Amino acid sequence: MGMERLDKLLAATGRWSRREAKGLIREGRVMVDGIPAGSGEEKADPDCSEILVDGMPLGYQKYTYIMLHKPAGVLTATEDKRQETVLDLLAPELRRQGLSPVGRLDKDTEGLLLLTNDGALAHRLLAPKSHVDKVYYARLDHPLGPGDQAAFAKGITLEDGLVCMPAGLEILGDGREVLVTLHEGKFHQIKRMVASRGAAVCYLKRLSMGALSLDPALGPGEYRPLTEEEVIKIGGNL
Ligand code: URA
Repeated sequence: MGMERLDKLLAATGRWSRREAKGLIREGRVMVDGIPAGSGEEKADPDCSEILVDGMPLGYQKYTYIMLHKPAGVLTATEDKRQETVLDLLAPELRRQGLSPVGRLDKDTEGLLLLTNDGALAHRLLAPKSHVDKVYYARLDHPLGPGDQAAFAKGITLEDGLVCMPAGLEILGDGREVLVTLHEGKFHQIKRMVASRGAAVCYLKRLSMGALSLDPALGPGEYRPLTEEEVIKIGGNL
């Protein structure tokens, strides 16, 4: 990849901000080929030099994968003139990495959103033929029951005539709480499927996407890079 500033290389992993990276370097915790780095301005090529932080390899990744707990009230978009977007929630060094959300959650939907600059992976995860399961938790104004479960399993026809693929509906408690499993992603899909059964969604949260589950340690608006294990599980590049 060529020579790059050390603070930039550290920040590019998504684990530290540029400022934190400079702090680590000042504290002598960053070694390049066995020699403690002096400043963030120093340059190194991660393909040719061994970069260690606290004795651990930097693990420079070609692509960045971020798990965000999307809060309600934020747009799933990379930019917008008036409204806050999911990209605005990230540190500046991450915002400069060309990340895009994989799929879309409505403005009022919370939960798991993957952001990456690995376009090929995003394409694979979203391709309808990939059938990547997405699981959502929903609270409803009216309970759903076994009849609705059967209708979801058969494939709901929306009011505009659009036919949905068979979907999972797990009834929790009295039926006002449900888990919905989708294999596709149509506009406002769960809200429209639930509406076709005479109920309305009051709260919606995505819990998982394929092999990736929302980390319960992340509060709304918080994010972290995927672990190596998670990157492998979803078919990304280390
Ligand atoms: N279905 C919806 O209705 N909204 C979402 O954000 C996701 C799935």
